[in-house]
Amino acid sequence: MAELPVLVTGGAGFIGSNLVDALVARGYSVRVLDNLSTGKRSNLPDHAGVELMVGDVADAQTMRDAVRGCRAVVHLAAVASVQASVDDPVGTHQSNLVGTLNLCEAMREAGIRRVLFASSAAVYGNNGEGEPIGEDTPKAPLTPYAADKLASEHYLDFYRRQHGLEPVVFRFFNIYGPRQDPSSPYSGVISIFTERAQKGLPIAVFGDGEQTRDFVYVGDLVELLMQALESSVVPEGAVNVGLNQATSLNQLLDAVGEVLGELPEVTYQAARHGDIRHSRANNTRLQQRYRLPEPATGMREGLVKLLGL
Ligand code: NAD
Ligand code: UD1
Repeated sequence: MAELPVLVTGGAGFIGSNLVDALVARGYSVRVLDNLSTGKRSNLPDHAGVELMVGDVADAQTMRDAVRGCRAVVHLAAVASVQASVDDPVGTHQSNLVGTLNLCEAMREAGIRRVLFASSAAVYGNNGEGEPIGEDTPKAPLTPYAADKLASEHYLDFYRRQHGLEPVVFRFFNIYGPRQDPSSPYSGVISIFTERAQKGLPIAVFGDGEQTRDFVYVGDLVELLMQALESSVVPEGAVNVGLNQATSLNQLLDAVGEVLGELPEVTYQAARHGDIRHSRANNTRLQQRYRLPEPATGMREGLVKLLGL
């Protein structure tokens, strides 16, 4: 069974390439479908068990070709930046919703059942109000990004009920770690802050820096994805992936300063439109279904690993 490849869409990106490493280490062969829009060929290991297909999930035939002969799929391909979706709703929709739908159809045709999907805490909008957010919290997608993630969840659930797909829907909170690309203003905040701090460049905080996020180290996430891939049962319902820990951007800056010894100039600018104020996971369901690394990687330890110190 293990010789059939696992398809990782978006596998040349940040989370995807960390997952590919873990799959290869455990003897899986891997097929990556990626359009290299933010992902990089160089993120992938040079290994006979890893095949890269350069193509777009928004193209139905490409998706059919990619799933052929696979044992399971991890669907990570998407425009990951919330702000990019605000700036270009139509363009991002092709990747973030049409891509999911194409995948569902291609899996149905090919008779492949197991799919792990990277949904997002963004589906809750501001409904957490600072409390830990449970999966049943009413959804409030504030941006095209969040709307596409929530709609993707509904399509996956339709294919589960109608066609026997086995979707495992994870709502990732904020993931960070090595290979998160800091090069765009749309990149993940930890990748931007650490890169700028290392180079001594000024750091811009959007808002007062008291907004909070539940940051998860990518290595911990990858462990969970491996468990979900290998599990014989797929309980219904999305699962939050967070640590139930709120870190404000100001606290994050303190941690970066501690780890690096100093911080460059920090300026406070206008908050981003559609930005969520507080995001913190109630992760009871995650702990019931999966084994979180014990202890999970803390912020300072994660920053040290990210910075290779
Ligand atoms: P990333 O940008 O590094 O990875 C996304 C990958 O998908 C890239 O390699 C990109 O080239 C590829 N891609 C984008 N559009 C594509 C398309 N149309 N066809 C084929 N490939 C395409 O970002 P990431 O942080 O690794 O995100 C991976 C997934 O996790 C995304 O679905 C993202 O929405 C989701 N997610 C990420 C976070 C986070 O904190 N990083 C949180 C919640 C959800
Ligand atoms: C992130 C993910 C998104 C995911 C969501 C889940 C990225 C790029 N985005 O969105 O895919 O669905 O978590 O919770 O990984 N900020 C600054 N200065 C900067 C950059 C950002 O102050 O230079 C602020 C932002 O305004 C925001 C916070 O940092 O308040 C986090 O931003 P960002 O890392 O882009 O993540 P989210 O928008 O939370």
